Amino acid sequence: MWTGDDLTDAEITQITALLRRHRQFDLDQYKDRCIRRRIAKRLRACKVTDFETYLQLLESDCDELDTLLATISIHVSRFFRNPDTFRVLEGTVLPDLCRQARALGRRELTLWSVGCASGEEPYSLALLVDEMAISDLEVRIIATDVSEPVLAMAREALFDPVRLNEVPEAVLKEYFFAEGNRFRLVERIRDKVEFLQHNIMTASDYPAADLILCRNVLIYFTRAEQDRILTRFASAMPQYGALVLGRSEALVGAVRELYWSDFPLERIYRRKAEGEVEPVAPGRGQ
Ligand SMILES: C[S@@+](CC[C@H](N)C(=O)[O-])C[C@H]1O[C@@H](n2cnc3c(N)ncnc32)[C@H](O)[C@@H]1O
Repeated sequence: MWTGDDLTDAEITQITALLRRHRQFDLDQYKDRCIRRRIAKRLRACKVTDFETYLQLLESDCDELDTLLATISIHVSRFFRNPDTFRVLEGTVLPDLCRQARALGRRELTLWSVGCASGEEPYSLALLVDEMAISDLEVRIIATDVSEPVLAMAREALFDPVRLNEVPEAVLKEYFFAEGNRFRLVERIRDKVEFLQHNIMTASDYPAADLILCRNVLIYFTRAEQDRILTRFASAMPQYGALVLGRSEALVGAVRELYWSDFPLERIYRRKAEGEVEPVAPGRGQ
């Protein structure tokens, strides 16, 4: 029974080379333990007893290659995951960003959900924006993920009830309709989200955004890669832009120079202005 600890470094290197060659995916930047556990999961699912057989399978079967990639880039999500975060976004952060955009004479606002999985997070943003009825700004919601199969599920917008546990009853009634034992999001909200395939390890093509949600994605990366990604986020947002991380994630080390902590509990950070010093008083969320 494969556990991951039984894989040799040489075997991990072989899989790394294969994913880089066929899918331009760089496993080296992910934490070793996570990777081992997930590869072992596929070895067990394929019921192979020797590693060579699995390598041959990966070389000959594109579907298994994609399944391995999807397993490595785990995509568990929920609508309004960490509801407090969405309350702060609705009550404070989004109104702030709108005000700042208006003050600069801008007509649009861009929100970016990074590692959007099957769409629960960007669709939650779309629901918020719809409820906020922002009429004078065009709000663009971009949602990206490295996994194409996951994005295909996101575009389908058909969800198991378990993914909707945190959706208020009234929102569920207004914006979803039942299809079998699942729920589909109405077209008007689906149309607000633009899904694109994008790998955050690729330095280019980071879209400019006022708000970036990158929750429960960085935890899988090495510290060095996290720093590179967080630095690119800072370059992609204006000085007052907001960054939201997952509840178990935090900004540490040199990248703290680029952001200040606005709502510490909700892991909401703001892009520092050039030369700005972090306010002495704790963030607003304390
Ligand atoms: C655990 S889910 C997080 C979903 C959502 N952000 C949330 O917090 O509910 C992690 C997502 O990150 C994506 N991901 C992993 N590596 C990535 C990469 N290099 N570039 C873009 N997305 C990536 C995975 O495919 C997966 O959908």
